[in-house]
Amino acid sequence: MSNYHVKTLEEYFQLYRKSVRNPELFWEEIAEEHFVWRKKWDKVVEYDFSKPEFKWFEGAKLNITENCIDRHIHIRGDKTAILFEPNNPDEEAEHISYKELHKRVCKFANVLKEQGIKKGDRVCIYLPMIPELAISILACARIGAVHSVVFAGFSSTALATRINDCEAKMVITSDGSYRGAKTIDLKSIVDEALESCPSIETVLVAKRIHSDIELKEGRDKWLAPLLEEAYQDCVPEIMDAEDPLFILYTSGSTGSPKGMLHTTAGYMVYTAYTFKNVFNYKENDVYWCTADIGWITGHSYIVYGPLANGATTVMFEGVPSYPDFGRFWEVIEKHKITQFYTAPTAIRALAKENLDFVDSHDLSSLKVLGTVGEPINEEAWHWYNDNVGKKKNPIVDTWWQTETGGIMISPLPYLTPTKPTYATLPLPGIQLALIDEKGKEIKGNQVDGRLCVKYPWPSMARSIWGNHQRYKETYFSAYDNMYFTGDGALRDEVGYYRITGRVDDVIIVSGHNLGTAPIEDSVNEHPAVAESAIVGFPHDVKGNALYGYVILKETGEERNQDNLRKEINQIITEHIGPIAKLDKIQFVEGLPKTRSGKIMRRILRKIAHNELSNLGDVSTLLNPEVVENIIKERL
Ligand code: PRX
Repeated sequence: MSNYHVKTLEEYFQLYRKSVRNPELFWEEIAEEHFVWRKKWDKVVEYDFSKPEFKWFEGAKLNITENCIDRHIHIRGDKTAILFEPNNPDEEAEHISYKELHKRVCKFANVLKEQGIKKGDRVCIYLPMIPELAISILACARIGAVHSVVFAGFSSTALATRINDCEAKMVITSDGSYRGAKTIDLKSIVDEALESCPSIETVLVAKRIHSDIELKEGRDKWLAPLLEEAYQDCVPEIMDAEDPLFILYTSGSTGSPKGMLHTTAGYMVYTAYTFKNVFNYKENDVYWCTADIGWITGHSYIVYGPLANGATTVMFEGVPSYPDFGRFWEVIEKHKITQFYTAPTAIRALAKENLDFVDSHDLSSLKVLGTVGEPINEEAWHWYNDNVGKKKNPIVDTWWQTETGGIMISPLPYLTPTKPTYATLPLPGIQLALIDEKGKEIKGNQVDGRLCVKYPWPSMARSIWGNHQRYKETYFSAYDNMYFTGDGALRDEVGYYRITGRVDDVIIVSGHNLGTAPIEDSVNEHPAVAESAIVGFPHDVKGNALYGYVILKETGEERNQDNLRKEINQIITEHIGPIAKLDKIQFVEGLPKTRSGKIMRRILRKIAHNELSNLGDVSTLLNPEVVENIIKERL
């Protein structure tokens, strides 16, 4: 029996039981099967939840790019590794074969070396979805540099915070990016950020929109001429299993973004294994994940997981609405996509449009559909199943997180009977627990609680860059000997899991993870604002949207409220990015507070949700009178 590809549901259950009985043997067999190791491990796993410390495949030596590129060259060298579909449908798609990818990654790696980047140095990548993004990631991994990709929709302040947190030496960016009918001047965002980033020595600039930009003498360099000159082979740096591979920032419920640190061997084994099984990838399939590589989904399931399997992975530069709402379906037809992996928010947005956009395209190449990033509501699930999958393609609703590195709960296509809104069963090796308010594990079915993981898995983040204490407090202190996800979940009568949403102050907006505290900090920067509180409320396209309650300073001055709203959102855009803008801003006289001064978000959340009949007991509040006013002026 091959452990690498699960073939029946019975085999899944067998493997699952084995993975619990003997996790080391289970993961060892998977790691043995398909990878190039320069040296095998001494120990499969070693862990201590109290420190917390997790080591997978200790003693092993490898380079992940040898696994993602070199080993495929002899067997599928001419096969397309990366299929680049540009923003503009009239621009030709680019097929980058495994041979070509090898050459381009090696050249890029040599450029990094020439520019003084060494093993362990951090390189910040701030690029649109163009091939250079995937290639620069792999080039870092080739020489052992730690990449930190920052989503190119983030503002200059957000970029600077992330560069400074990991003290990156280099930024890789482009002159600009295309986004539908718009162009975005990325380079000037970088320039602004770098005014406060002393660690940056070099900026490499890819040409994409051919705009007229300035290069700062001694710091900025065009990428193309350097690549042209570079040698086309680069011996991979041999890495230890637990050497850092990348940092990726994610929002926390409080404070600065958390630089989740992922390491080499475990991440590779897990993303490769889960890619193969969750998407049921076969040799001639053309797989498309619509996420941006700036998020974990793109790292694990556009770059590393697919390439480790020798897959053809599509990189799409554009947006679902350009040139019209049929773009996704057009691309599926054009490239005969077999696996399509997207976000519920995109499905909801496209479901609002005329069905002709879907029906006018031949989607018969599709075999598996996937969703990720937020709960998918029943209506969107059925729309996807009926109109895109034509009721013949399984939908894999995949639950996971930046912190988990790879998919944790998901149906296996054609094996696990799907159930709308349920991510269904844990993948082999993943031991889940639901925990009650007292911290006790809830056994049995038809129960709900806080979702935790009781046993380590290979791709879990090992730390928060520069702040191991915060890693411990956020994920390992709520309950002993387990990882706390921050999500609530229920387990139905057959043991299927359904994620019910965050139980902390993180709100998922259009699949993006947003902490309320940093947004409140931005709102409070407005000179007219005294205090604010942000909660989520249901939104039919975004899943959740943000509702801000804002107290203004008493200056005696009359301000136009609409202008204030615009100014507040402008500050949020500058500090974080447009994704964090507030949909509703209500100006209030006061916020409901406990006697110790803590804002009662539960009440604000209910008001935003329009659940006014069960606000609970407000009499214990410090200022119960404000609640009535807030309700009266609710937006
Ligand atoms: O609340 C869960 C939600 O997204 C959170 C993780 O966000 P992020 O780290 O940005 O990673 C997103 C891509 C992996 C989770 O804590 N989430 C993710 N997938 C699902 C989900 N909620 C419900 N169903 C899902 N399939």
